[in-house]
Amino acid sequence: MHVVRYWFACRTEKTGRSMTMSKGAAAWIAAVLASVGSAAPALASDRSVALLPRPTSLTYQAGSVTIDSGTGIAVPAGDADAIGAAKLLMAHVAGERGLALQVADTQTASVHFVRDPALTRPEAYRLTVGQSGIDVIAGSHAGFVNGAMTLAQLLSPDDRFGQPVRVPALTIVDAPRFGWRGLMVDTARHFVPLSALTLIVDQMASVKLNVLHLHLTDDQGWRFEVKRYPRLTQVGAWRIAPSTGGPPPPEQVGGFYTQAELRRLVSYAAERGITIVPEIDLPGHAQALVSAYPEIGVLGDTPAVSHDWGVNPYLLDPGPKGVRFVEDVLDELIDVFPGTYVHLGGDEAVKDQWERSPKVQAQMKALGIATENELQSWLIDTFGRYLATKGRRLIGWDEILEGGLPPSASVMSWRGEQGAVDAANQGHDVVLSPAPILYLDSLQSDQNDEPPGRLSIQTLADVYAYEPLPKGIDPAKAGHVLGAQANAWSEYLATPWQLQHAIFPRIGALADITWSAAPRNFPGFVERLRPQIARWRRAGLEVADSAFAVTPKLQSSRGEALRANRVKVALVTQAPAGTIRYTLDGSAPSARSARYLAPLTLPPGVTIRALGFDASGRPTAAPRAFDTDREALLTRSASDLVSCPLGSLGLRVPRTADATANAPVFNVNLFDTCTAYPAAPLDLAGGFTVIVDRLARNYGLAHEAKAVRAAYNVTAHGELLVLAGCQGDRKGPPDADAPKPVIAASFPLPDPDRSPPRMTFSGSLPKMDGDRDVCFQFTSPISEPFYAVEQVRLVERR
Ligand code: ACM
Repeated sequence: MHVVRYWFACRTEKTGRSMTMSKGAAAWIAAVLASVGSAAPALASDRSVALLPRPTSLTYQAGSVTIDSGTGIAVPAGDADAIGAAKLLMAHVAGERGLALQVADTQTASVHFVRDPALTRPEAYRLTVGQSGIDVIAGSHAGFVNGAMTLAQLLSPDDRFGQPVRVPALTIVDAPRFGWRGLMVDTARHFVPLSALTLIVDQMASVKLNVLHLHLTDDQGWRFEVKRYPRLTQVGAWRIAPSTGGPPPPEQVGGFYTQAELRRLVSYAAERGITIVPEIDLPGHAQALVSAYPEIGVLGDTPAVSHDWGVNPYLLDPGPKGVRFVEDVLDELIDVFPGTYVHLGGDEAVKDQWERSPKVQAQMKALGIATENELQSWLIDTFGRYLATKGRRLIGWDEILEGGLPPSASVMSWRGEQGAVDAANQGHDVVLSPAPILYLDSLQSDQNDEPPGRLSIQTLADVYAYEPLPKGIDPAKAGHVLGAQANAWSEYLATPWQLQHAIFPRIGALADITWSAAPRNFPGFVERLRPQIARWRRAGLEVADSAFAVTPKLQSSRGEALRANRVKVALVTQAPAGTIRYTLDGSAPSARSARYLAPLTLPPGVTIRALGFDASGRPTAAPRAFDTDREALLTRSASDLVSCPLGSLGLRVPRTADATANAPVFNVNLFDTCTAYPAAPLDLAGGFTVIVDRLARNYGLAHEAKAVRAAYNVTAHGELLVLAGCQGDRKGPPDADAPKPVIAASFPLPDPDRSPPRMTFSGSLPKMDGDRDVCFQFTSPISEPFYAVEQVRLVERR
């Protein structure tokens, strides 16, 4: 253990008396105290501290330590692990609290990094705050980093930037529940600039996430520079956007990382205790590769790098040429990425090209392999054994189980948890990253300002409720569960802003459930998350406020509200968001505005503005407004419209596939182009105006393509049919006894090659009883672009 030291800038809370300190330090403290006023800094919240993730054990003692700019940090001489962690601490405290800590000698330092070789549990640390200052004690680099990140949180409990912090005396003993606390970033569907990755790495470290899985290759782009195969990035890193009609835009989109850039990222991550797991996706999702090197494909043709999301047909050649190619790529990959695991994908490889290739069929015969899935297993095992000769391990998506799991492989389970259960019970290591719950491209609320993604909503609370140890795993095999990972697929996360919006704050929940074994308590988690959200924002990140935004919920149908000339609105939030306050006079809500207690009943025409405020009167989200005038009640935009029939794959998409701005969004169903305005008051509304956009049809649906509903078009490019009284808002098959909908209007659609992509149609609606659905069905040929509804405005009958 370290020696007893003197400190400065440390005082005991009980006595308020300064402890022994050097003369210079005393003068410095006097100056600082004069500059901040004589009031002692308050504890963030009496005797509690808010840490995310929650530590294994935290006990409070009497007293406190105050830390200010100039406080010294001492590290054991020559201990590179401790020095690195101390530097991280200094950087975080500077950015998150505005305090400049300084390296000092043991005698004058208040913060001591102390090596304790007895702390052998991976990533473990202890942290004590007491009479002798603050000690961060660890036996490893990761332990020091974790301790430093806990201390950084203790030193930035609130938004008093630049002011000293009083930390209560306490002892933390901490180690993670799981060793794999991961985040996957898909750099293939949309290239993610290196600077955006660096920011994410920084903030993963803040909450002790320790694996960054980079999805580096896919049909839409190859992002890893391979010196031996330069065309992979010269050709494979670039694609053109799909057409919404007429010639596609000429500019190419994409990008790639040089090996030098990735080495820098690897070492930046390693300094923060984070291992990067690179993924080369094989044998499917290989279209960019085949575009660059058709001879490494199966049938010899040269596709363009794909602009279609989903499943595309191009596969890797499983023969000697393909194997050699992959081994060459792996040689360069493992030279750049020193971590144990290499991810080789294995997901969604439709095997049609292999089925249709005489060469591949001959190879299967020669190997005595009966099915293409077994060939995939053989291939994965070949690469797994190759990696093993280099001291590495292979991990793949759960499809690699399908042809029999190669002994060498670990499994990342994404199609639910069954893959993990099966693989763990067979004695393989597994990581849980099930869709949809840990798929961060899922929307996180039903608010209409939520940017694009999968329509299945996965809230902050949903992620927090996820249990990474699935039922069904034999308790004796539970040790095979390495941990869990959230995946930020980027088809619809086109910009760093959108990527951050999807990741933050939900990875706070992931961090808590993978680090801490403590019983779950969502309100308590939210209280611990709040200061972390403030830190993330201070670091310049977009953090979604979806969980805390006040959402108005109409307590009746819009028709009922209009008929009664009264709207009843409840103001709700997903997560505890403090005290909700609102205004009805158009002014911005403040901590002194009316407090929301029960649903509001109002005449139409008022605008409700509402916001939550925490205990110290700070807003917990950006304010949201809700217009209740009759016209607003009759207008529905993309987020209020539903696909008909319900239950098909739903996406919220932007106007163009490679949108770089937060363009208007559309809720679409890939298998149909029918959009319903649910519960339209057809007794009141006599007309409609619909804004329609023509979008790219850029979905690789593979064998599901036959499920796309083609409606019969009776003019060259199809029509927009407006159907009053349809069953748009239903689940399951149509009700055969329901009355037939009335065709209220039919508009021929223009030639996509010769018309602007946005258009408006107006018409009248038949009078019907009460609230009925109105469906907007496009009958355009499925070989042509895709139509979606941006907005429907109903017009009251006079
Ligand atoms: C995946 O979502 N295809 C792993």
